[in-house]
Amino acid sequence: MRKKVIAGNWKMYKTQAEAAEFLEGFIPHLEDTPDDREVVLCVPFTDLAIMSQSLHGSIIRLGAQNVHWETSGAFTGEIAAPMLTEVGVRYVIIGHSERRQYFGETDETVNLRLKAAQNAGLIPILCVGETKQQRDQGETESLISSQLKAGLVGVDQTNLVIAYEPIWAIGTGDTCESKEANRVIGLIRSQLSNPDVPIQYGGSVKPDNIDEIMAQPEIDGALVGGASLQPASFARIVNYQKV
Ligand code: 13P
Repeated sequence: MRKKVIAGNWKMYKTQAEAAEFLEGFIPHLEDTPDDREVVLCVPFTDLAIMSQSLHGSIIRLGAQNVHWETSGAFTGEIAAPMLTEVGVRYVIIGHSERRQYFGETDETVNLRLKAAQNAGLIPILCVGETKQQRDQGETESLISSQLKAGLVGVDQTNLVIAYEPIWAIGTGDTCESKEANRVIGLIRSQLSNPDVPIQYGGSVKPDNIDEIMAQPEIDGALVGGASLQPASFARIVNYQKV
């Protein structure tokens, strides 16, 4: 059975004090969380070390939101994989659309980052997805195919998570219809050499749509932005119910 992975992406939210407050409210909700799912929090770099300490013994896995492809060097503002693994990071988001859109991330740099993450023992979460305009022009399938083709060159598909995040559904409340997300995720799976790669859906995932999303046969988890910032809403999402 494919692993289920529910990950929060905090983006550029939460100081250390706010992260600690979140955990205080969130951890008690995990007592009955079924062990068929991995719970991941991808947090700002400054939160990682302190959260790693408070997560000892918890089922929560720690994730980062970016990693550079070199292990050290003159790359101002970047972070290296050994710096992440040293503080207990297990997952790293790579190629999020916000990094592609605002910070010049390309399929080529995504590919370099994926390989560096895997070399360090991190599990990368590769994000792919189309804009509204690309969808309207019927380019969804070709765009995602090319993101996968270029992004996955030389990447180990046994140590990988993919997130399908249609850009028009991110932060808009305009969730992709779950059957459509299931269809695109099936297409993504058909292009992989390992059909057991967990593939998440991301984009306006909320407590009131998670059960329907997780009921789709191709969808193996969720990458959650806004709704991962509040303990009660993220708890409801990680404790999704089978329908
Ligand atoms: P929202 O859940 O806020 O739409 O964000 C999705 C996202 O970008 C997760 O990486």
